[in-house]
Amino acid sequence: MSGRTVVITGANSGIGLAASVMFAAIGDTVVMACRNPERGKTASEAVIEATGFSDVRMRLLDMASFQSIRDFGEAMREEFSHVDILINNAAYIEHGAPHRLSPDGIELTYATNVFGPFLLTEELRGLLKQSADPRILNVASNIIKHFFDEKKSLDFNVLRGEWPVEKRFRVYDQYRDSKMALVMMTFASADSLAADGIAVNALQVNGAQMSRATVKKFTRPWRIVANIQNAMLPPVQEMAANYVVLTTEEEYRGKTGRLYNHDRAEMISAPDNPNAWERVKQVSGAAYYPAYAENKAVQSRLIGLCEEFTGALQPPS
Ligand SMILES: NC(=O)c1ccc[n+]([C@@H]2O[C@H](COP(=O)([O-])OP(=O)(O)OC[C@H]3O[C@@H](n4cnc5c(N)ncnc54)[C@H](OP(=O)(O)O)[C@@H]3O)[C@@H](O)[C@H]2O)c1
Repeated sequence: MSGRTVVITGANSGIGLAASVMFAAIGDTVVMACRNPERGKTASEAVIEATGFSDVRMRLLDMASFQSIRDFGEAMREEFSHVDILINNAAYIEHGAPHRLSPDGIELTYATNVFGPFLLTEELRGLLKQSADPRILNVASNIIKHFFDEKKSLDFNVLRGEWPVEKRFRVYDQYRDSKMALVMMTFASADSLAADGIAVNALQVNGAQMSRATVKKFTRPWRIVANIQNAMLPPVQEMAANYVVLTTEEEYRGKTGRLYNHDRAEMISAPDNPNAWERVKQVSGAAYYPAYAENKAVQSRLIGLCEEFTGALQPPS
């Protein structure tokens, strides 16, 4: 028994579910934070059945709702004396869906994939602080490669309220931008979390088979693409193993503010003015992340928005 407590958001399917099985199998207490009670219950029962380990607790959490995140934080503080690992795995990925707002009036992709993880981190900060080796893993995506194109930038003017009529809306674009924002948030929040002894890193997922339930949420053209991709993608267990290794192994202890690739190698910022060959290597490989991720002005504006939107400057501990 490790005695660790692990919180995994969006744990009822895909990589999050596979990681729940792995953590439970090594004796960690697993909090499967899911938004749907039935799907969450079915998944947590499956984890218990697969591992024979009973300290697997399904708790309700809607990462798109600030109130739900606050309620979850409060319930966690009542139930636990510490949290060792937080994995911000849940993501809104409904390719083809129209523009939607969260209950707090924020574009749903950003609400779920960026502001939710920011607020949840703050809500659990006090519990993480009590751990001997607290680690947060934010789950990013190789979709950020789009930012190797120097013309790409994040548009923070469209995060609240109705979508401007003159601008094309695609969940794909929002998903791409939200994952870059998540990486930038990881870099930008490392110092503040380090002050409390908490490590925060991101993992660039490069692909894992998507569940049928996830693909079903896409519109038809996106479903066709996803089904073709799925035939070539590795099973979710491969990426789930990265969640476990990065958050538990000694080799990664004390490392913070990093982005790791699917081979668990630390990625570095792409050099300026790459030649054609270097550019090919950047786009086809997983050694570099786009230099845009290091833009301090954008990072600082992003953290400012996270604080402003969530009102999470001084969470309870
Ligand atoms: N699979 C890939 O190829 C790939 C590639 C790059 C990055 N990733 C990243 O890897 C992570 C896991 O993805 P996956 O492939 O395992 O996808 P998945 O099976 O669809 O898992 C996503 C989970 O997030 C949950 N979720 C969505 N919105 C939520 C909300 N508002 N509150 C709480 N939970 C919510 C979903 O719950 P419901 O069942 O209730 O919808 C689902 O359980 C994501 O961060 C994704 O962006 C995956």
